[in-house]
Amino acid sequence: MTTYTLRTANPAKTRADAVVVGLLSGAGGPTVAPGGEPVARAYGRRFAPLLAALDVKGKPGEVVKVPTGGAISSPLLVLVGLGADATTTAVRRAAGVAARTATNAASVALALPADSPELVRAVTEGHLLGGYTFTTYKNASTRTAPGDVVVLGPTARRKDTIAAFEEAQVLARAVATTRDWVNTPPGDLTPPAFADAVVEAAKPYARGKGKIKVTVLDEQKLAELGCGGLLGVGAGSAAPPRLVELSYAPRGARQHLALVGKGITYDSGGLTIKPSSTMPEMKLDMAGAAAVVQAMFVIAQLGLPLKVSGFVPMAENMVGGASMRPGDVLTLYGGTTVEVLNTDAEGRLVLGDAMVRATERKPDVLLDVATLTGHMVAALGDKLGGVMGDPEVVDRVLAASTVAGEDNWPMPIPEHMGTRIHSSKIADLAQHDWIRWGGGLFAAAFLREFTGGIPWAHLDIAGPSFNSGGPYGHVTSGGTGVSVTTLVEFARAMSVA
Ligand code: BES
Ligand code: MN
Ligand code: ZN
Repeated sequence: MTTYTLRTANPAKTRADAVVVGLLSGAGGPTVAPGGEPVARAYGRRFAPLLAALDVKGKPGEVVKVPTGGAISSPLLVLVGLGADATTTAVRRAAGVAARTATNAASVALALPADSPELVRAVTEGHLLGGYTFTTYKNASTRTAPGDVVVLGPTARRKDTIAAFEEAQVLARAVATTRDWVNTPPGDLTPPAFADAVVEAAKPYARGKGKIKVTVLDEQKLAELGCGGLLGVGAGSAAPPRLVELSYAPRGARQHLALVGKGITYDSGGLTIKPSSTMPEMKLDMAGAAAVVQAMFVIAQLGLPLKVSGFVPMAENMVGGASMRPGDVLTLYGGTTVEVLNTDAEGRLVLGDAMVRATERKPDVLLDVATLTGHMVAALGDKLGGVMGDPEVVDRVLAASTVAGEDNWPMPIPEHMGTRIHSSKIADLAQHDWIRWGGGLFAAAFLREFTGGIPWAHLDIAGPSFNSGGPYGHVTSGGTGVSVTTLVEFARAMSVA
């Protein structure tokens, strides 16, 4: 594992195997970004011609390696593009790109813009996440990572900077574990296995002021309680469903946040089976659950003074002799009956059970995070999450998401969606209606039925939870760990309100 340290040091004189410096793009050609000036100064008049010869522009995503030949103490200079401005987002992305460059260097010094706690956080998070790899299933791992990374910044001795640096590592490691869980093959992360993994991962938080209590409800308990959504969706699988409930209740907390995360460990679509080409990625369907659990661990580690209750419904949506059928009616926890019309719209069924459980605790705010609909991906693309619900809560989620450096966009729940979910002739609610348009909004209208009037927002992360392409910025291929940081920032804002 890589060790990160924070220092005020001259990047031209550090003895790291590689030094990373940022470049800003501009009309007059690229210029060195704040933090890298001593390196540019060491090169003196040779710096501008060097950049010209390398044909670098300072654009985001751009990166070059330059042997220094003694011009600075380090033998290797890594130049990474930031774009026009050294914003936290640009810096986080550039640090991520740098992390995948010169991976054989045993030690790396990051001389990126870092003169504020926010920028130190961006550099640290970006580097840690950009260098993420998932090698559990590789016999021979081909990539290495530096043992030591030094984050250089002029305010490295300030208390708030040190705190931001420590927090960034806690956050990034939680995001990385979220990625691990999403990337794990679905046969190895069935609902019982996932529940066990959560219990295991919660062990460090079992004691002390910021302790987290974890309860696993198995299939018998779910039957006793009448969690018909989880039992219905899980019926076709050899692996039974679980509901994991977590509670963090520090003394003196005034606010109470409830988090619900969709934990479909694999989504074949069930009898309304998915097209073959879309199936391999459907291990991603527990990304909301993973994010909720990891966000709670971060909240506990930071000791945020608010109460947080987590509800994580886990089921595998499979085809079998006992599968739920389109046409079946399920009775969800709390008694609402739902006519199942498309077994591939399974997320809302397990979320219904879990959200009613959450409302029983009377939280001040309820957030759910789910890889809920392909419609949201069609609407917003694969890099943005959609946020729906009570406008005031939606605004707070968007504000948190901005601080976190994640991309989310508000979406409406139009009036007629509310009518359509009441269109079942035999049950309280219709789970689906075969009108294709706006399916992500229909899903949100359905979930709203289970909020009990508690201020609520729904994050549909079907797009950004998984990167099917190559790495970019701090986002690697596969599970992205999206929404962990947004949830933490939401909780932080709520705890100081
Ligand atoms: N897990 C999927 C949504 C999804 C799609 C996630 C693509 C990530 C990428 C969800 O359970 C699903 O199948 N939704 C259906 C809903 C439809 C049947 C109303 C969909 O999006 O097609
Ligand atoms: Mn589905
Ligand atoms: Zn699904």
